[in-house]
Amino acid sequence: MSAVAIQPYAILDDEECEQRILAAKEKLGDRLVILGHHYQRDEVFQHSDFTGDSLKLSRAAAESKAEFIVFCGVHFMAEVADILSRPDQVSVIPDMAAGCSMADMANLAKVEKAWAELSSVIEPDECVTPVTYINSAADLKAFCGSHGGIVCTSTNARNVLEWSFEQREKILFFPDQHLGRNTAASMGLAMDEMVVWDYDREMGGLTVEQIKKAKMILWKGFCSVHQMFTPEQIDNFKEKYPETKIISHPESSYEVCQKSDYVGSTEYIINTIRDAEPDTRWLVATELNLVNRLKDQFAAEGKKVHFMSPTVCMCSTMFRIDPQHLAWTLENLVDGHVVNQISVPEDVATNARLALDRMLEVSP
Ligand code: 13P
Ligand code: SF4
Repeated sequence: MSAVAIQPYAILDDEECEQRILAAKEKLGDRLVILGHHYQRDEVFQHSDFTGDSLKLSRAAAESKAEFIVFCGVHFMAEVADILSRPDQVSVIPDMAAGCSMADMANLAKVEKAWAELSSVIEPDECVTPVTYINSAADLKAFCGSHGGIVCTSTNARNVLEWSFEQREKILFFPDQHLGRNTAASMGLAMDEMVVWDYDREMGGLTVEQIKKAKMILWKGFCSVHQMFTPEQIDNFKEKYPETKIISHPESSYEVCQKSDYVGSTEYIINTIRDAEPDTRWLVATELNLVNRLKDQFAAEGKKVHFMSPTVCMCSTMFRIDPQHLAWTLENLVDGHVVNQISVPEDVATNARLALDRMLEVSP
């Protein structure tokens, strides 16, 4: 018998899916682990065995003994799970369309072109450490692995940049310019030591002088969800509630992060609000599903949690993982069929693992 198709699941309501997910989990027992990123909708998130930010979930995948790792997150996360897990483990994503639009802003052809163009001005293999945000395809992690580079997440970006500057005098940071800029600025780098590499232009749109002077070469990528937040939203909110604490994810703009009291990963945002005094007020710049969860979770302590933007901004690709796809994935596993397996070719995985292992070594 072949795998059951997704179509019949599309008409199931969430409640029926919930019952079927619970039953499949019961049958699979410890052969299965479900990893859930904080941006997942509640109907999916509730089924996670482990929840976390990108770093925490990478570690959970590396440490898991389960035969099936079902990643409720986005594509690059399931790739990392495949790379860091044992060869006999299987990494699965319930919907293949759950990508990351920021990760798609860099690809191997464009990064290799940038490296070749830099070679006409400087010796990149001697003076540039390539650093890729974990939000990137496996072949970009492999590129970093084979060029003396490293991966970072929003939790360990500072440790990773410190390590990278110990190796070589410059960093090429992709794909998120904001995480790169915010982290470098927090380490004391001046704005005129950073340049933006426009991957659609010859030489990144930079002059030879700009490239020679730069310490940080920032890829022109961004997360559209986090670009919705603005410094004006902070000012307007504080006019009404001056006591508010501002907390932002470092994918937000430099201007928003500069006006924030706290900047950090999704896990850091949760822990900071959890550990805060009761009856405090928070304005949060990160994805809506997480902010709504925080709002409900801490209401009983009198903590008031607000979403920074007046307009709704969810991560539409994280939202692709719904109870219907999760039920379909798990019931197929029960029947002995692996659907939507993420399998990184071994030559790519080997070099990507090098860059990921360097990251895990310098992580807090
Ligand atoms: P975290 O690692 O902080 O969870 O961030 C992942 C992400 O994609 C944020 O947009
Ligand atoms: Fe990618 Fe932004 Fe979604 Fe995070 S929130 S997964 S960076 S598109």
